[in-house]
This record gives sequence, structure tokens and C-alpha cells, in this order.
Amino acid sequence: MAFHLFGKKRKAQTVPEKIPAHVAFIMDGNGRWAKKRGLPRTAGHRAGVITIRRVIRHCCDRGVKAVTFYAFSTENWSRPQQEVDTLMDLFVEFIDSEIDELDAQGARVRIIGSRQGLSERVMASIEKAQTRTQNNERIFVNIAFNYGGRAEIAEAVQRMMRDGIGPDEVSEAVIGEYLYTAGQPDPDLVVRTSGEQRISNFLLYQSAYAEYLFPEILWPDVDEEALDGFFAAYAKRDRRFGNAKE
Ligand code: IPE
Ligand code: IPE
Ligand code: MG
Repeated sequence: MAFHLFGKKRKAQTVPEKIPAHVAFIMDGNGRWAKKRGLPRTAGHRAGVITIRRVIRHCCDRGVKAVTFYAFSTENWSRPQQEVDTLMDLFVEFIDSEIDELDAQGARVRIIGSRQGLSERVMASIEKAQTRTQNNERIFVNIAFNYGGRAEIAEAVQRMMRDGIGPDEVSEAVIGEYLYTAGQPDPDLVVRTSGEQRISNFLLYQSAYAEYLFPEILWPDVDEEALDGFFAAYAKRDRRFGNAKE
């Protein structure tokens, strides 16, 4: 049974009873959002950052335990240099402006992805965010930055071999411990906005049994109501994990 709450606007909201423990977002459509308004793509990325803040707050309110945002893929280096520079700047600005609130919210921030090719300035931001929030326990906030699922698996294998893990010791659980998301639940729900229906190298190992949603909404337009819509759609899914239907 869903129950009802009255939000700020005194509008009845339906709160789905089945909330994903871990929700992951492929934040797509910033460029199209800007184009529709005759703005440069970078304006779309700026608007997208505001959405991240909104989404974290609402996920916290709804009791989500981990939220992951795909912010920059290992493939995104091939974008025009000016756009790459803006995405790097926005990452640093985001950490600077949000870290106090994230910390106060009890968010444990982790930047998941390869460190190869990142500037010292970006590295310093990563260090700052992770160290400052390392003892928080309310919600994991993962930012997938310079992230690629295949690169993550390759890196995990390298580290396992360096640690002298033998063939007989390799198991699904051990691999999980070597991934960037070690210690966190796998995503229950992956949402890719903007209507594109592909995963673009995102959480390949961890999303083995995730439910997927591909809503048409562009990332900067995602608000609390849209999020509750995603959760409601998730609540209706019948997760079987290989079992026969009852
Ligand atoms: C997603 O928006 C943000 C990043 C990939 C960094 P896009 O920039 O891909 O937006 P579209 O797909 O061009 O609309
Ligand atoms: C995926 O979006 C990466 C991020 C959201 C960071 P893209 O827009 O880069 O993906 P493709 O190129 O359309 O697959
Ligand atoms: Mg895109």
C-alpha cells in the first residue's frame, strides 16, 4: 500500500513503498536541454549540476542508501576540449559548493573511476570530498567520474593479480571487493534520462540484476515529482532473480 504525504506545495504525493536501496543515474540530455533553449551545451551541464543537488536531497528524504551519478565517462574525453574543460571545472565547483551540505546530510562521497589523466586540481577535490565524508553513514553518494565499466574490471583484475590472489581464490564476491563500489549494495535501479536506451559502459558488473528505466525526460528537467515517478515504476517491477513466477 502506498501512503500519502503533503509536500511543500500542499500537493498530495504518493510515496511508493518499495524504494531502491541503490539508484544509479546515467545523466543524459544536458546538451539537448541547452540546444532547445538556444544556449551552449555547457549551460546544459550547469543546469544538470543543480539537478544533482535536488536528486541527492530527495533520495535522502526517501531513504535511499546509495545513489550514483554518471558524470564523465572514459569516452567523454573525445568531446571538444572546451566542453571537457567545463566538465572538469564543474566537478571542482560542485565539490567546493556542496561538500558542506553533503557532509551535514551524512553523505559518504566516493568518486568512482580511473585517476588516469585527471589534473592535480581535480585530484585534490576528490581527496577533499572523500576524506571529509569518510565516516558518514546515512547515504553513499558516488560520482562516476572518468568512469568506464570495462576499465574498472581491468583495473580490478590488475590489482587482484598484484595482491597475489590465486585462480582458486577468485570468486564473484572477491571481484566485488576490488571494484570501485566495494562495500556497497549493487544498484537496484538504473535510470538513463533523455530516451537513449543503452548503458554506455556504466556499472557493467554491478548492474547484472538492476531494473532499468529509460524515461524521455532530459536530465536538467528531473525534479522531485519525476523521481517519485521513477520510484513508483520501480515498485511495480517484479524482480525474480532467476526464480519461477509464483
Ligand atoms: C550528459 O549530457 C552529460 C555528460 C555526458 C557529461 P550530454 O552532454 O550527453 O547531453 P546530450 O546527450 O548531448 O543531450
Ligand atoms: C554517458 O552519456 C556518459 C555520461 C552520462 C557521463 P553520453 O551522452 O556520453 O553517452 P553516449 O555517447 O551517447 O553513449
Ligand atoms: Mg549524451
